Amino acid sequence: MPNSKIAGLGFYVPERVVTNHDLMEYMDTNDEWIQERTGIKERRFGVKHEETTTTMGIEAAKIAIERAGITNKDVDFIIFATLSPDYYFPGCGVLLQREMGMQGIGALDIRNQCSGFIYGLSIADQFVKSGMYKNVLLVGAEFHSPGLDYSTRGRNVTVIFGDGAGAAIIQPSEGEGILTTHLHADGTYAEQLAYINPGSHGGKWLGKKGFGYENEDKFGGMFITQHMMDNALTFPNMNGPAVFKFAVTKFPEVVKEALDATGHTTEDIDMFIPHQANLRISQFVQKRLGLPDEKVWNNIQKYGNTTAASIPIALCEAMEAGKIKKGDLVCLAAFGSGFTWGSALIRWQ
Ligand code: COA
Repeated sequence: MPNSKIAGLGFYVPERVVTNHDLMEYMDTNDEWIQERTGIKERRFGVKHEETTTTMGIEAAKIAIERAGITNKDVDFIIFATLSPDYYFPGCGVLLQREMGMQGIGALDIRNQCSGFIYGLSIADQFVKSGMYKNVLLVGAEFHSPGLDYSTRGRNVTVIFGDGAGAAIIQPSEGEGILTTHLHADGTYAEQLAYINPGSHGGKWLGKKGFGYENEDKFGGMFITQHMMDNALTFPNMNGPAVFKFAVTKFPEVVKEALDATGHTTEDIDMFIPHQANLRISQFVQKRLGLPDEKVWNNIQKYGNTTAASIPIALCEAMEAGKIKKGDLVCLAAFGSGFTWGSALIRWQ
């Protein structure tokens, strides 16, 4: 069985820079609070009506394909990870496929939020190792900015997120490449970080009262109700302290799992790329793992949390900066909504 490797990487972020000061025009927040709690100074917002999650994914994919030394025609499978798709259905995978002229090949959309890239990498790794595909295009992209609450009510969530995309080509490897991947989830906490409406749940998991299901006995009228619109129930919600608490436990746990599975220790890691959830979480995890600054890549300061895109953007930036070289042991780890979490260990080829 061959190993698999990341043969090409690319990323795209929209041009428009939105600073913490810019957000202060819309909500009661301030630069000091945001930087102190999250490390974020600015993020990028896409151009509405022109850019979409898919178009950003395409820009990243073009670079990854070129760097892998292949053409669009060589891609034999697409995996698209996002929580902010262009359409509720179909997914971004088929839109990207259509726009890039790859009709006919399989396109899989996955919904694992911040862990989406690692889940996708694990799927791609299995497909390549089994010999089923030779050039899997894996994309993580988000267009968060149209779906956020810019009033003070939504400030704890809105200040964290930004738009962007990252992509990778996964190919068979003559050398080592992807050594191991580890995926986890605990749905007990599904609503702790969630975009609940619109949806078909009809209040089942939440208690019906107050969620606007006044038409629930009729056909229709439950997916999006006027009550939801009027009461701002169509925005993401987050229990920040709960997310923080779980993240700082699960990140080190899942990194250790990957190291143990391959007989490595934290000292063997050459570059650690954590999902850019929050700089304070990354710093906490870095300390827990005992890693020096030069072995951890953080860019949340300038992009915010780009969810499924954050790992490939960071990985690509670190590579472009010459911080990852052939033979390095690269560790990826993510935690996010679901809750889901995961890790990957790669011997860079
Ligand atoms: N600007 C100013 N004040 C804000 C604010 C903002 N953007 N967001 C919240 N606040 C206020 C709250 O209203 C609250 O005010 P009060 O004390 O008067 O009620 C106060 O700040 C503290 O709120 P709290 O939610 O307890 O803050 P916190 O210390 O937990 O920090 C987070 C909030 C979101 C920064 C923090 O919980 C966190 O980072 N959690 C992890 C989130 C994350 O990583 N999400 C992505 C996962 S993939």
